[in-house]
Amino acid sequence: PPRIPQLGRSAPAGAERERFGSAMPFELPLAKDDFASDLLHWYERNRRELPWRSNPDPYWVWLSEIMLQQTQVKAALPYFRRFVTAYPRIEDLAQADINEVLSNWSGLGYYSRARNLHKAAGEICRRHGGRFPQTFDEVIALPGVGRYTAGAVLSIAFGQPLPIVDGNVRRVMARFLRIESEIKGKTLEQLWETLSQCVASPEARRRASDFNQALMELGALVCTPRNPQCGNCPLNRTCRAYASGTAEDLPVRTAKRKVEEWSFHVAVASRGTKFLLKLNQEESFLRGFWEFPRVSCQEEAQLSDAFGRVHGIRLRKTAGLSTVRHQITFRKLSFHPFLAELESPLPEEGFAWAELGESAYPVPAYVRKIERAAASARMLPF
Ligand code: ADE
Repeated sequence: PPRIPQLGRSAPAGAERERFGSAMPFELPLAKDDFASDLLHWYERNRRELPWRSNPDPYWVWLSEIMLQQTQVKAALPYFRRFVTAYPRIEDLAQADINEVLSNWSGLGYYSRARNLHKAAGEICRRHGGRFPQTFDEVIALPGVGRYTAGAVLSIAFGQPLPIVDGNVRRVMARFLRIESEIKGKTLEQLWETLSQCVASPEARRRASDFNQALMELGALVCTPRNPQCGNCPLNRTCRAYASGTAEDLPVRTAKRKVEEWSFHVAVASRGTKFLLKLNQEESFLRGFWEFPRVSCQEEAQLSDAFGRVHGIRLRKTAGLSTVRHQITFRKLSFHPFLAELESPLPEEGFAWAELGESAYPVPAYVRKIERAAASARMLPF
């Protein structure tokens, strides 16, 4: 059972605490200082060299944290390098065209991250003279920044002793403390409070950046979702899940959103090396991206009627291409592409003939998949 919190001196005062209040922390099976030094000792020997670790500039840390929210380090790295090359300063990102930013993000998914990043860069330039702000209230006011990201940037870039709880930290702590209820609501608050006190302990607060990254790194390298390497874990002497042989069963799974299956007919029409693209202005997914014109398979009566009704164009199918599958958040998508010739004029707005790399026309990853499949089957006329 949770103990009465120790109030006072060791807790980081200030905006984070005021905003989120405090729940009762969990009791740790060892002193907070020893917990911190076990972790830090391990981290020194096992940390991966990553660009935002060699150079913990707040802009780099912020960008990496946004990318890593839904993406593994390995997959995010090439995008990270592309971004800091294309936009070396926050100001460069702020001044970039959003279409180009989305083009550079294409393939990472969860595109609201890119839109918010671009918006926040603008705000940092307008309100903070292009320098990343250093107070919790200013940072959490930025678009796309919540308690986790604010704590991550302020601790990693500026050494502020703020707690962070991401998926890795949840898993590590659910096991270490043997938390057998779902980590949400009050239990999640208790975890934030526990880490708030841990990062404020004398040993951790001097190295808040390393302490927070050590917890995440342990989750990424040792305390993995499946086959955790408990034998190599610096916390195994006091880990409650290890002691009871339940590490792999924790944390208890939360109910996942049900996966939906969608399928589409996709028209690939080309002129020279350009393709016919349509701007997605729907309220559903991929709004703001340019795609090959597509219609839902459900509304297919006659393929050409469907394209007429949905897009106002007339097409003639000349060849079928192989199906491309792609998942976007909770949607499993099947695309059935076909080569087509356009047999009508284009409506005035929302269509373009463009090459797929053109940054003014950001295309989603599945469009590139279709193009690659068609190219390797030598189905394209160029
Ligand atoms: N996941 C998100 N941010 C991270 C970081 N700084 N180190 C390791 N894993 C992370």
